[in-house]
Amino acid sequence: MRKVLYDRFGNEQVLMVREQPTPTIAQNQLLIQVKAASINPLDWKIYRGEMKLLSGSTFPKGVGIDFAGIVAQVGAGVTDYRAGDAVFGFLEVFKGGALADYVVVTETAIAPKPASISFDQAAVLPVTGLAALQIVDELAAVGPGQEVLINGASGGVGLFAIQRAKQRGARVTAVAGPAGVERATQMGADAVVDYTKQAISQLAQRFDAIIDLSDKLTFAEARQLLKSRGTFVSMLPSPLGLVQAFLHNLFSGQKHRILILKPTAAGLRTLADLAEHQLQIPVEKAYELANVRQAYQETSQGKVKGKAVVVLA
Ligand SMILES: NC(=O)c1ccc[n+]([C@@H]2O[C@H](COP(=O)([O-])OP(=O)(O)OC[C@H]3O[C@@H](n4cnc5c(N)ncnc54)[C@H](OP(=O)(O)O)[C@@H]3O)[C@@H](O)[C@H]2O)c1
Repeated sequence: MRKVLYDRFGNEQVLMVREQPTPTIAQNQLLIQVKAASINPLDWKIYRGEMKLLSGSTFPKGVGIDFAGIVAQVGAGVTDYRAGDAVFGFLEVFKGGALADYVVVTETAIAPKPASISFDQAAVLPVTGLAALQIVDELAAVGPGQEVLINGASGGVGLFAIQRAKQRGARVTAVAGPAGVERATQMGADAVVDYTKQAISQLAQRFDAIIDLSDKLTFAEARQLLKSRGTFVSMLPSPLGLVQAFLHNLFSGQKHRILILKPTAAGLRTLADLAEHQLQIPVEKAYELANVRQAYQETSQGKVKGKAVVVLA
C-alpha cells in the first residue's frame, strides 16, 4: 500500500509517498481502506518539527490525523462494525499516518459515516468538527443570547464553530480575510469583519466569548474586547501558555482557556448526527496522493481557504 512518510523534520519537501506492507490487525482492531484524509495545520506544525515535545523525534513518521473510508477487515473482538461499513475517524494526533491506503484503528476512534455526506466531507469532520464542539460547548460554554467573536472564522475549525455557536443560540461576529467573508456569512455569522479593512481592536462591542483560530490574538488584546466575565479560547497549548492561563484564571473573572483536542467516538457520533440534519460541510479542494507536497505547500501558504482533502481510493 501507499503511505506518506518522512525521515526528518522540514518543509513539505520531506514528505514521500512510499510502498509499505498492508498492516495486520489485532483482535480489537479494524483495518480501514482510506477513501479520503483531511489536511490540517497540525500536520505541518508536526512535520516541520514545531511540536517535537509532543510528537517525539523518532522516524519515519506518518502524516494526517482524520480520514473516512471502508472497513476492510475486523478483528475477532470487534462487535459494532463489519467489513464493508463506511466509517470516519481519527488516528492519534501526534502519531498520524492517515495519508495511506489503509489505517488500523480501534472502535473508539471511529463512527459510522452518515450516508448523506461524501467521504471527502466525512474526512474533514473529525479534527475540525470535534475542535469546534470542544471549544464552543465546553471551553467557551456558549449559550443563548451570548455575543461571540470568532477570529479566523473562515478556516476549518471556524466554519464549524460559527455553525455550532449559532445552534446554541449565540450572536456570532466572524473575523475573516476578504476571501472568507462570503463563506462566513453562508455559515450563519450575524456580522462579518474583514480584518484587512478593520482592526478588531476598534470594535465598540464587548463579547462573552472570543475564540481565536488565527493564532495571532494575544490574551492581553482579547481582554480589551471581553466582558468582565468573558472567556478567551486560544489554540496553542504550550507548557508556558498553559501555566500562565492557569495562574491568570485563579485571580480574574475573565478566563483564558486553551484547546487540547480530545477526540472521542461519542463526539464523532454527535458530529454524524449534526451532519445528517443541519451541518454545512464545505470542502474546497481535493488532491491526489501523488501531489501531497503540492497539497501541503498550497494549504500551508493559505492558498486554499477552508478544508482540503487528499483522495486515496
Ligand atoms: N490545540 C489543539 O488541540 C488544536 C486542534 C485543532 C486545531 N488547532 C489549531 O487551531 C488553529 C485553527 O485551525 P484551522 O484548521 O481552522 O486552521 P485554518 O483553516 O488555517 O484557519 C485559520 C484561519 O485564520 C485566519 N487568519 C489568518 N490571519 C488572520 C488574522 N490576522 N486575523 C484573523 N484571521 C486570520 C485565516 O484566514 P485567511 O486565510 O483569510 O487569512 C484562516 O481562515 C490552527 O492553528 C490549528 O493548528 C489546535
